[in-house]
Amino acid sequence: MKKVAILISGRGSNMQALCQAAQNTKTAYEVCGIVSDHSQAAGLEWAHEHGFFAKAIERKEYANKIDFEKALHDQLKILNADYICLAGFMRLLSSAFVNRWQGKILNIHPSLLPSFKGLAPQKQALESGVRISGCTVHFVSAKMDDGPIIAQVAVPVLPMDSEHDLSQRILQAEHEIYERALTAVCLDKVIWNRDSSISIETNFSEQLHGFRAS
Ligand code: GRF
Repeated sequence: MKKVAILISGRGSNMQALCQAAQNTKTAYEVCGIVSDHSQAAGLEWAHEHGFFAKAIERKEYANKIDFEKALHDQLKILNADYICLAGFMRLLSSAFVNRWQGKILNIHPSLLPSFKGLAPQKQALESGVRISGCTVHFVSAKMDDGPIIAQVAVPVLPMDSEHDLSQRILQAEHEIYERALTAVCLDKVIWNRDSSISIETNFSEQLHGFRAS
């Protein structure tokens, strides 16, 4: 069974979904720890209360990004992490860090990448007038919200949607797809090839895309 560490910065609802799936159902991974770059992150408290190893490594405690990422890397090694899931982790990791964990870091983003990278993607979707948005799980490369796509779920943008409405609808889809994408990766059903493409085992393909109407 693969060991997965989850990095958060805030609420941590995706982290909870990954942790609960690992506790309630037979998954291909176990959660070995949760690390936040904010000691006040609500998700840390939830993780403590539910018996997970949970720790803050605050950026402001370190002189520079290199030292911060070294502390993060050391902690992930102590946890014996095979994979790292970014779940609302609001910090861009350096290429040095990403290269050390090449193919081992996953992220979830609330848009159908490559559309609407960066901050407030749900607002970007509303402002653009698209009728469909969604969420994406992808391997992390050194560029923001970039890297090979593992899984996507399409979610409708409804006429009267506020940013909150759309975010909530997408979030429901996020909670389902992140666990499925992570499981497929942990079972080696998704491989990041050297030419940067990815191969997905046919049997698993259906589980890695979908449409969530409400
Ligand atoms: C999610 O929408 C995720 O896709 C994005 O940040 C948000 C984090 O929410 N990267 P939560 O902390 O998982 O509730």
